[in-house]
Amino acid sequence: MNGKIYDSHAHYDSEAFDEDRDEVLSGLAGKGVCGVVNCGSDLPTSQKSLELAEKYDFVYAACGVHPHEALGAPGDYLARVKEMLAHPKCVAIGEIGLDYHYDFSPRELQLKVFEEQIILANELNMPVIIHDREAHEDTFRILRKHKPKGVVHCFSGSAELAAEAVKLGLYIGLGGAATFKNARKPLEVAASVPLDRLLIETDCPYMTPVPFRGQRNDSSLIAYSAEVIAEAAGVTPDELLNITRQNANTLFGTEL
Ligand code: NI
Repeated sequence: MNGKIYDSHAHYDSEAFDEDRDEVLSGLAGKGVCGVVNCGSDLPTSQKSLELAEKYDFVYAACGVHPHEALGAPGDYLARVKEMLAHPKCVAIGEIGLDYHYDFSPRELQLKVFEEQIILANELNMPVIIHDREAHEDTFRILRKHKPKGVVHCFSGSAELAAEAVKLGLYIGLGGAATFKNARKPLEVAASVPLDRLLIETDCPYMTPVPFRGQRNDSSLIAYSAEVIAEAAGVTPDELLNITRQNANTLFGTEL
């Protein structure tokens, strides 16, 4: 595979990479990876994302407060996120959204923090990276209301919902889940979404594709997800990697 992998969603700040972070990141270029957007989940991990972006040319950062972390966010979190967004290598607000599977933060607070960050993104004309787990109804109500630009990452909805996201101007992020045994929906989404709206991602260290499930994920393993997503989309893996690279460059304003 000659395609260049642009991983639109990763967490190399995770402690899963504490032992060998530099080794892994330094090795990615040799494995066909041309770009990574590292997503923060709270203020400290957003700061770490910026530090990784400063250290590696091919790494860019997204800064924001994840729904899991909404409860622990300080009162001035929004002003502090805004400061980080001014960094030249910060390309998006994320990851932000709603998670009604774990409900680690009260839903009212998740909604407030999600909406505040979307309003900030629109003010700054920056894309958002959206996490929507078992919260399609509220997520899409807010997206319809504010119409931010961005991506719904690790898209878990139906093809119909993906069509609505596309109509709203959003991109669809697909990754390791497409390789799982029960992956009906991601493959239907891959087959139906216009190619110019697809992004590919790892969400590493999580969501490791088959046949490496259970091990730590990294951006080079996108090659395995790309094979099944490309097949569903009716293109070659190389074509998929090239198109998703261009799409990520368009959305994030990068040149990778
Ligand atoms: Ni993530």
